[in-house]
Amino acid sequence: MTAKTAWDNVTVVDHPLVQHKLSIMRDEKTGAKEFRELVKELAMLMAYEATRSFQLVDTVVQTPVTETTTKVLAGKKVAVIPILRAGLGMVDGILELIPAAKVGHVGLYRDPETLRPVEYYCKLPEDIGERDVLIVDPMLATGGSACAAVQFLRERGAKEINLLVLIAAPEGIEEVRSCCDDVNIYTCAIDSHLNDHGYIVPGLGDAGDRLFGTK
Ligand code: PRP
Ligand code: URA
Repeated sequence: MTAKTAWDNVTVVDHPLVQHKLSIMRDEKTGAKEFRELVKELAMLMAYEATRSFQLVDTVVQTPVTETTTKVLAGKKVAVIPILRAGLGMVDGILELIPAAKVGHVGLYRDPETLRPVEYYCKLPEDIGERDVLIVDPMLATGGSACAAVQFLRERGAKEINLLVLIAAPEGIEEVRSCCDDVNIYTCAIDSHLNDHGYIVPGLGDAGDRLFGTK
């Protein structure tokens, strides 16, 4: 289940299960263990929507009853690229749906003063240019980290790029659209705005700290 938005490249995954789980994640009383489980489950549900356009081809199967022509995936190659560190929480859920996907890592953190992304790591599958890319990160705030990740991937040959986030701020969506308007964005929610510290309001706080219990 998805909802259209004012932006043609943005899809909100508004399935009731998704919205229910996201509400539990937002609650400050939710601890790290449950938060991690919910990030994983939401990532899987998002991947289900983000892969909806994958091509199918015919195949012939012998059922216990008869031979029939049915459908299988047309050999799509996928790369899952978490933005470290919070994006790591979304990887396992997607791999459960797409076990043949390869995983690359982009290490970025947001400088707390400038709010600009700082790169510290990048390791991608060698054939990234032949793969459908799913960049994953729970939060799209100013959009600086997502745009930097897209640029790294483009420089290394990635073509088809999708961005999967759990919560997006309108500011981040606009930033991604202006730096890379051919990236499809999937989110569970579009929140109100950013506060003076660049945090999403109402948001869920610092996703990395909540995932890994570092605060
Ligand atoms: C968070 C989040 C995104 C980024 C979003 O990571 O996981 O990567 O901020 O903000 P932006 O859209 O303004 O760039 P953070 O920099 O806190 O690093 P962490 O995942 O290591 O905690
Ligand atoms: N990063 C987070 O983890 N949360 C926000 O609200 C903004 C950036």
